[in-house]
Amino acid sequence: MNILVIHGPNLQLLGKRQPELYGKETLAQLNARLKKHAAYLGQTLRIFQSNCEGGIIDLLTANAAWAEALVINPAAYTHYSYAIRDAIEGLGLQAIEVHLTDISKREPFRRVSVIKPVCLAQFAGGGALSYLTALDYCVSIGN
Ligand code: DQA
Repeated sequence: MNILVIHGPNLQLLGKRQPELYGKETLAQLNARLKKHAAYLGQTLRIFQSNCEGGIIDLLTANAAWAEALVINPAAYTHYSYAIRDAIEGLGLQAIEVHLTDISKREPFRRVSVIKPVCLAQFAGGGALSYLTALDYCVSIGN
């Protein structure tokens, strides 16, 4: 299965950014774990990070024909980007939303996800495990 992984804004700061919340692992280390797990599952990944709403939409558009599933951490865009939501819906992507932290237990503005309604599932609060579980979930929908 071809799985597109998108990391949203500020996730390039992983390892440095509020490690008590987001952990000490860098984005490169997280991506290495994702690639290793995908290889174990026999899946193919394309991984991107973007700090821009339009950049994420362009990545979704450019990879939509290739991607059989999307694993996306929209980061802060989760809470207000109707544009990303519309792109996922409009492109017909089978999307899984992931978060390192449990957004349902954080500040009120983080408890809302405008992306969730266009996703098949949401995994949050597990750190890197949220992403790894999303890859497992992709395999389950691919069969
Ligand atoms: C996040 C949660 C968002 O609220 C925040 O803006 C992020 C990261 C997470 O993975 O827990 O940047 O998506």
